[in-house]
Amino acid sequence: MRSPCSPSTLSSSLLGSYSLVVSSFVSPLIVVSVFLLTVGPQLSSWSSFPSPVTWRFGYFSCSHSRAFLSEETPSNCTFANDSCRNDIETKETFQQRQGQVISRVNDPKDVTLGAKRRDMKRDGKLEKREVSLARVRSSIRKAAQIRNFTSVHEDPDYVPQGPIYRNPNAFHRSYLEMERLFKIYIYEEGEPPLFHDGPCKSIYSSEGRLIHELEKGKLYRTKNPDEALVYFLPFSVVNLVEHLYAPGSHEINAIGRMVVDYVNVISSKHPFWNRSLGADHFMLSCHDWGPRTSSYVPDLFRNSIRVLCNANTSEGFNPRKDASFPEIHLRTGDITGLVGGPSPSKRPFLAFFAGRLHGHIRHLLLERWKDKDQDVQVYNQLPNGISYDYMLKRSRFCLCPSGYEVASPRVVEAIYSECVPVLISEGYVPPFSDVLNWKAFSVHVEVKDIPRIKEILMDISQRQYLRLQRRVKQVQRHFVVNGPSKRFDMFHMTMHSIWLRRLNVHI
Ligand SMILES: *[C@@H]1O[C@H](CO)[C@@H](O)[C@H](O)[C@H]1NC(C)=O
Ligand SMILES: *[C@@H]1O[C@H](CO)[C@@H](O)[C@H](O)[C@H]1NC(C)=O
Ligand SMILES: *[C@@H]1O[C@H](CO)[C@@H](O)[C@H](O)[C@H]1NC(C)=O
Ligand SMILES: *[C@@H]1O[C@H](CO)[C@@H](O)[C@H](O)[C@H]1NC(C)=O
Ligand SMILES: *[C@@H]1O[C@H](CO)[C@@H](O)[C@H](O)[C@H]1NC(C)=O
Repeated sequence: MRSPCSPSTLSSSLLGSYSLVVSSFVSPLIVVSVFLLTVGPQLSSWSSFPSPVTWRFGYFSCSHSRAFLSEETPSNCTFANDSCRNDIETKETFQQRQGQVISRVNDPKDVTLGAKRRDMKRDGKLEKREVSLARVRSSIRKAAQIRNFTSVHEDPDYVPQGPIYRNPNAFHRSYLEMERLFKIYIYEEGEPPLFHDGPCKSIYSSEGRLIHELEKGKLYRTKNPDEALVYFLPFSVVNLVEHLYAPGSHEINAIGRMVVDYVNVISSKHPFWNRSLGADHFMLSCHDWGPRTSSYVPDLFRNSIRVLCNANTSEGFNPRKDASFPEIHLRTGDITGLVGGPSPSKRPFLAFFAGRLHGHIRHLLLERWKDKDQDVQVYNQLPNGISYDYMLKRSRFCLCPSGYEVASPRVVEAIYSECVPVLISEGYVPPFSDVLNWKAFSVHVEVKDIPRIKEILMDISQRQYLRLQRRVKQVQRHFVVNGPSKRFDMFHMTMHSIWLRRLNVHI
């Protein structure tokens, strides 16, 4: 079988060798307006993990964004303005700017004729794309009104249904529209291994898997940047750290500078970054330092879609524009044998955790539960002869405390092993919470409740447990890494998170 993470053959020019060709591009719609959506039909309310993006399209947070939609929308402003992106402009300044643009286009001193024509053609395409996106929003909004536990759309592979979804019908509609329309342009600048490459194994493998899958270009990729809905900045933070970080220095400026240089190159060479101030661009990283790296470019941090494993809201993760994606520890680079587990009756242990003493949450957990209770199996090192995998498959609940970062590969390990994940974290937005209803297939224990873990888990009735476990099996497909990717798997779900955030931006 072909490895999903075989080395990319797509090569590109050396970043540094690019002369900074300044295009005389004039942006037609410099404005980025965001319409964030109010809480949609909640199949269940779970305050710990509210849906970052919701399904009832219709109420927009910023009243001015309605002006750019052809659809009829109720006139109200349900979100506080501070939930909008910082660079949103009002309708008035937008029109002012548009006026400026038009006059600049007509001023021969400002731009050459050829560039003008190119730009006008480009603007026309952009407008057309935005119109089709408006139609998509409308169709998803209609789909969201069907509050059915089963999607009513036909699908040869899989029909989303049940309480694991916030709204199966809206998700399905959105997914089908993504397959039809989503187009990603990958900047070609930059050389592997820092760019266009990433790890296939290890705790950070999700980063490499996604980069390689995108680079292969079989799915969603377009070579024509004028056709794209989003633009990918293909650097790997894991590889940047490996090549530019001096171990022990705790100093990541060299890594940050590389990203600053990269954005400078693509924003000088291409018109797309300036046009949206990065809002239709995305980066992805599974490394703990993904968020810190992005902070070196303020527009990247503030405007772009950052796809991060370390989805820590205290570190600036903004669930409305950033996307959380799963950390998956692929020790051998392969998932063969990882997926599946025995039935609940063959799981003698109530709860299980094994891992190093990383961070204060684990400290609390180990201090309270290590060697304390037969039911709650907590180790910082497993005894000889007992395998980690064995324990995952013999436990009813698998504890997933944050370590040095909020995400833990244990969440996906639990889901693969059909063990109900117990998330113990603060400020963590779990993956795909825009469409998945985590409460239906996991348990969330607050850090202050660590001493009560046994009590909390024992309180869950056998019937409830069987339901949770059955749903873990149902949700598995969304976390599985396939080579090549299959519909609704981890790759496509991550793309869907990006798609959904792009839909929320009007450029
Ligand atoms: C907007 O919402 C507020 C609060 O829910 C309500 O009082 C007000 O009447 C609404 N305005 C319009 C124009 O619907
Ligand atoms: C929010 O919007 C209202 C009405 O448009 C405005 O008066 C207020 O100053 C805004 N608040 C902030 C924090 O921008
Ligand atoms: C809900 O789903 C069921 C099963 O697919 C279907 O029979 C029913 O007509 C649906 N209800 C609505 C309102 O679409
Ligand atoms: C984008 O903006 C930067 C900084 O304002 C500028 O240096 C660059 O030339 C612009 N890019 C294009 C393609 O116009
Ligand atoms: C989340 O971010 C905050 C702020 O930087 C930090 O104090 C906290 O330790 C982070 N959480 C984890 C689990 O790393």
